[in-house]
Amino acid sequence: MMTQNQMDNSALSGNIESRIFLIGFMGSGKSTLGSKLARQIGYDYVDMDDLVEETAGMTVPGIFNEHGEAVFRKWEHDILQELCLREKVIVSTGGGAPCHSNMIQIMNDHGASIYIKLSPEALKNRLLNSKTERPLIKGKSEPELLDFITTLLSTREHYYNQARLSVDGFNLQIGELVQKLQESGIL
Ligand code: S3P
Repeated sequence: MMTQNQMDNSALSGNIESRIFLIGFMGSGKSTLGSKLARQIGYDYVDMDDLVEETAGMTVPGIFNEHGEAVFRKWEHDILQELCLREKVIVSTGGGAPCHSNMIQIMNDHGASIYIKLSPEALKNRLLNSKTERPLIKGKSEPELLDFITTLLSTREHYYNQARLSVDGFNLQIGELVQKLQESGIL
């Protein structure tokens, strides 16, 4: 039975994308939006970091510590390739995934990528309130964090901007996201 929050599937167009990848910086809200979106349109939801952790049998910080970032990126890439074989799935990707190993191209070749875009200031505020442990920003003071985000975002935007659709992530509500996906023909 459909819950109150779920969309009537007849509202979806015939050529709905089978895989939707949410991309964007750490703290942009990909996981929250992704799981809500999946519930609304009746797709499975997958968080790439969770899948890497399950497959590796260790946490993301643990992987960075023991194996280093390069190995983490390789495992992310392998997981993404497996996900490209699945149908009807919303994937929230790790913030660095689209920026390494041609992963933005892989996403665009196998589905629709959506960039959830936020300013460095907004990202900093969200990350300061987040409980998720993120090795790249661990131990940074507030000004250091803002500096780090500003610098890294300026190199990553080149990749994020290759998304099929960019959406302003500030206070983004799930209804607005669905509407934008429909307007752009993704749903
Ligand atoms: C990373 C983002 C994290 C996680 C890892 C590296 C990055 O995912 O994949 O800590 O390089 O930006 P979230 O974007 O879900 O925090």
